[in-house]
Amino acid sequence: MASTPGAQILVASNRGPVSYTLDVATGDLTAKRGGGGLVSGLSAIDPDAGAVWVCSALGAGDREAVRQGVGEPGVRMLDIPADVHHDAYNGIANSTLWFLHHMLYQTPLEPSFGAEFRARWAAYESYNRSFAEALAEEAADGAAVLIQDYHLALAPRMLRELRPDLRIGHFSHTPWAPVDYFRLLPDDIAAQLLSGILGADRAAFLTRRWADAFTECCHAVLGPGIPSGTRIGVHGLGADADFLRARAHEADVDERMAALREQIGTAPGGTPRRTIVRVDRTELSKNIVRGLLAYRQLLDDQPSWRGRVVNVAFAYPSRQDLAVYREYTAEVQRVAHEINEQYGTPGWTPVLLHVKDDFARSLAAYRLADVALVNPIRDGMNLVAKEMPVVSDEGCVLVLSREAGAYEELSDDAIVVNPYDVSGTAAALHQALSMPADERAERTKRLAAAGTALPPTQWFLDQLRGLESA
Ligand code: F6P
Repeated sequence: MASTPGAQILVASNRGPVSYTLDVATGDLTAKRGGGGLVSGLSAIDPDAGAVWVCSALGAGDREAVRQGVGEPGVRMLDIPADVHHDAYNGIANSTLWFLHHMLYQTPLEPSFGAEFRARWAAYESYNRSFAEALAEEAADGAAVLIQDYHLALAPRMLRELRPDLRIGHFSHTPWAPVDYFRLLPDDIAAQLLSGILGADRAAFLTRRWADAFTECCHAVLGPGIPSGTRIGVHGLGADADFLRARAHEADVDERMAALREQIGTAPGGTPRRTIVRVDRTELSKNIVRGLLAYRQLLDDQPSWRGRVVNVAFAYPSRQDLAVYREYTAEVQRVAHEINEQYGTPGWTPVLLHVKDDFARSLAAYRLADVALVNPIRDGMNLVAKEMPVVSDEGCVLVLSREAGAYEELSDDAIVVNPYDVSGTAAALHQALSMPADERAERTKRLAAAGTALPPTQWFLDQLRGLESA
């Protein structure tokens, strides 16, 4: 049954704006609202407009909430069978499509597309169909539907077939794979993925680079031209300056700053130590291990920084259902420990690694950052690169991978690195730490302006306007 029949604006994504935790002892459910660009973007819509967000139940708490019918208004959570969700989300979205778009395969052994893959693909189709059917039920005549990400690449065409009257947009928050890499996929699967997205009136991306890669894949796999007439859009997502500046000055952030200062300590002579800050999900594409290796090389090559700098690295858990993510998390911890063993002294811990997610502590680290290290192998945008210059108290130098989407907007005022070049990154860290204060302040001002030029509300409204004219 449709919970809010006739919505004029609909959003669809795997992860919804709210999640539930089940207390098994008491049976109580606790709701937690999430953040992110889509949540802030949707706040631009009049709450009375009756927008509906279709998402998937992700854990036991969510499933129980669906069964008890305790959902939030405007959110329709789909209780897709757990095995289907597992195969679609972990098997296809996270282990195939994510790897493809971020170029994460170790190709001598993977990928290998056999019977197991085909079974998972069938689950991915079924998962996409559940979304298409729910959206078809919820949407008013001619409604605008914004479908998000690689989890839902087939849903636009499925929805188009069910409801030709709708205006459908698809948005990719990831990079898009270059054509030769995309063609690792079996030909029929590659064609189905592209045709799925081309069921939308508009297919939109975070940068021109990812949009062009998608178009090239369409030409190579489906033939010249975009067969459906689907329009291609580019909408860069920026940081939410007002929210961040206000949130970063609340009491809990001040408390965490005091604690962090204590841990960072002072250099001989009493001057505060310099900080290189990174904040990521522990995601294979974020390149945390090479970031640590670059920091170790900095300490090797430039002994004058020993005892005078701390690498504050927050690496929050992500996709721990996948063994490769668990192994990567362990490797991050191992390398950080090794650096601390090699260089640490009784009064100096060279790497401060925290793995427990704490947004207030992240903002505290942003405020303290002298250098922001953002070195992903490949990233759709990377909002941390845009947020840190907005929040840092004294201004920070941004060391930025040329493979992050944010590079298109921030490269002029960042120190740009090749993410695989550990020595180059070590040299960039040295240059960043050595930058004169006035140059650092000027660059930070420009980075903050560029990084907040497209706030989430505008990003969202631009997509809706794009659909109106499609
Ligand atoms: O950051 C890119 C992104 O695709 C987001 O759009 C999306 O919310 C997230 O990755 C998915 O991550 P998770 O698997 O943790 O839900």
